[in-house]
Amino acid sequence: MLEPGAIWLDTDGAPIQAHGGGVLYRNGTYYWYGENKNAENVADPAGTGAFLDRVDVIGVSCYSSQDLLHWKNEGVVLPAVADDPAQDLHSGKVAERPKVLYNVQTGKYVLWLHIDTADYKYARTGVAVSDQPTGPFEYLGSFRPNGAESRDMTLFQDEDGVAYLIYSAEWNATTYIAPLTDDYLSTRGEFVRVFEQQYREAPAVFKHEDQYFMVTSGCSGWAPNEAQYAVAPTVQRPWTVMGNPCVGPDADKTFHAQSTFVLPVAGKAPGSFIFMADRWNNKNLRDSRYVWLPMQIEDDRLTIHWRDRWDLSEFEQRL
Ligand code: GAL
Repeated sequence: MLEPGAIWLDTDGAPIQAHGGGVLYRNGTYYWYGENKNAENVADPAGTGAFLDRVDVIGVSCYSSQDLLHWKNEGVVLPAVADDPAQDLHSGKVAERPKVLYNVQTGKYVLWLHIDTADYKYARTGVAVSDQPTGPFEYLGSFRPNGAESRDMTLFQDEDGVAYLIYSAEWNATTYIAPLTDDYLSTRGEFVRVFEQQYREAPAVFKHEDQYFMVTSGCSGWAPNEAQYAVAPTVQRPWTVMGNPCVGPDADKTFHAQSTFVLPVAGKAPGSFIFMADRWNNKNLRDSRYVWLPMQIEDDRLTIHWRDRWDLSEFEQRL
């Protein structure tokens, strides 16, 4: 059973450390990548404000599973760098929201993540590659995609193989959607600006039938706020804002969580998607929890209801 908000243990009995994460499904296995926050909170080193509750970077964790219930710890696949403060992956920086895609043309696993300084002013995207889903990933460096700030971000791979970086730019005011090069290692120089001046974060994109959906949060740091979803006929636009997909008690706070990814469930009927969100505990970030919930889609209507516990039998088998 999945218990949103409970402590989730891996197959060794240790709490899973994969925050702000995403899941890649490949050859019958789910790989869950996320931020390993298994350290004490540290005082804000830059002295710039309470919203910067943080732990030092440990790296990107990977867990594998065949059933989305039993997760084997595959270790830290992109570790922090301890000794050189100039490095992007230095433990004193920020490395958040890792997402991984498999590139069929190159046979590489490509990881993108938000790289920042502790004051969130560096605002870049980092890229790493591996021959294996379980790493180790080789870090290639970071940049500002299309010259713009990039903070919260996700990747989306379309059915035609084209992948996109979706990121909060312009001090988070506007979301950019940018196609990646064929090898997924950089952006192409094209982008569209969506949700202009709407301050959306934590994007999660998926496709169902002929429509694209994007769930986002508002901008309130670790504190939960109301989610919003939008629909579009193409990945890039036009995006129509539809409102809050969450229904019921605490729906205005996304059930005390924040979107990170939407996972299509393998072997189930089309439309079987899991909403993955983080219930941040800003005063003890390592104890942040996972809120995964089934989503219901009817035409362009998306709804998410709270469940104390549930399992995949909620979804119909693929015929
Ligand atoms: C949130 C963001 C998180 C993290 C946090 C830091 O807005 O979604 O990924 O960066 O701010 O306060």
